[in-house]
Order: sequence, then structure tokens, then C-alpha cells
Amino acid sequence: MQFTVAIDGPAAAGKGTISRAIAREFGFAHLDTGLLYRAVGAKGGNPVLAAQELTPDDLARADLRSLEAGEAASRVAAIPEVRAALVAFQRDFARREGGAVLDGRDIGTVIFPMAEVKLFVTATPETRARRRWLEADEKSASYEDVLNQVRERDARDMGRADAPLRPADDAVLLDTTEMSIAQAVDAAKASIARKL
Ligand code: C5P
Repeated sequence: MQFTVAIDGPAAAGKGTISRAIAREFGFAHLDTGLLYRAVGAKGGNPVLAAQELTPDDLARADLRSLEAGEAASRVAAIPEVRAALVAFQRDFARREGGAVLDGRDIGTVIFPMAEVKLFVTATPETRARRRWLEADEKSASYEDVLNQVRERDARDMGRADAPLRPADDAVLLDTTEMSIAQAVDAAKASIARKL
């Protein structure tokens, strides 16, 4: 069976948690596509070459989850040649048997316009900044700093010319601002169960 779930949305909306829970529930493979852009940003040098030469090993680097890696990712993600070089990796991933869930910014709009299920997961910038701030081990940045970073990242991801962050016309919107993790996961599972 080939069954693709596309989960898009801004940083810290809950995409990762929801994607992992869905993968576990339905036995799907999961690809966090943000990691591809983080790995390209972290490699340094020419980002287009870095994207063309990306290997699965590059995704295992320990430093990819940092705030700095996220910033670098969002800068290289605005380069059309970088995005183009990562398309095949993402489409190949979903071609495997047994279903796949991919989360990112343009999965439902560009990578898999024909995905069986598309979810657009959002929350207010304040809620997302609070979550990011609470989950940081060291409170080196203030809540206000984190909120500013969230807003800047949103503006860059939504404002770029190539594959900007936006919901696909046929995406199911999931606003997690007032939801617990369990509620958000249940809502996502219900959208998928309806299509299986
Ligand atoms: O989701 P994550 O925070 O890891 O993504 C890091 C950055 O990579 C995003 O801010 C975005 O600029 C970029 N990205 C993208 N398209 C994707 C996934 C991530 O442009 N499918």
C-alpha cells in the first residue's frame, strides 16, 4: 500500500509530535524534512552542492536540533536550487511500501500535492514560542527572544518566493493553540482513519 500523509505548518506548532504519533499508530515510516534543510545548513560551504550531495548519514548529526541550525536551515531553504535538489530524496522516501508521513513546510503544496491526507498544523506565535522556551534545557534566551525568533522564522518561511509556507487548498487545518498534545494527536489520527 502507498499512503502518504503530508503534515505542514510553522515551527513548534506540534508537527513533529503529531507525525511521530501517527507513524507509531499506523505503522508508517516518518521523515522530518526539516532535518534535510538543517543538515544542508550545518554542512557549510556551498549550500546547493551540500544539498546535491546529501546522504542519510548527514541527517544523524547531533547538532541539527539547535536554534542556530534552525536559523541556518531557514536561510538555505529560501534557495530554489537547494529545494530542487531535495525533492527526489523526499519523494523516494514515500515510495516505500507501508505508508509514510512527512512533515515540513511544503509537503502538501509541492512535494506531494496528491497526498492522501494533508494536515496544516498551526498555533499562535505566542503559544509556539512558549512551548519552545519551556522545552529548552538551558534558558539562555528569554521568552521574548524566542518569540521574536519564531516571528522572524514565520516571516521568512511564509515570505519566500519558492514554496512558501501556506496550507494546501485541500488541507485539514489543525489549530493546536488550545489543545493538549493528546487532543491534537487524536484529531490527526481521526483525519487519517477516515481516509484509510
Ligand atoms: O521544521 P524545522 O524547524 O526543522 O525546519 C527548519 C527550517 O527548514 C524551516 O524554518 C524552513 O525554512 C525549512 N524547511 C522548509 N521546507 C520543509 C522543511 C523545513 O523550507 N519541508
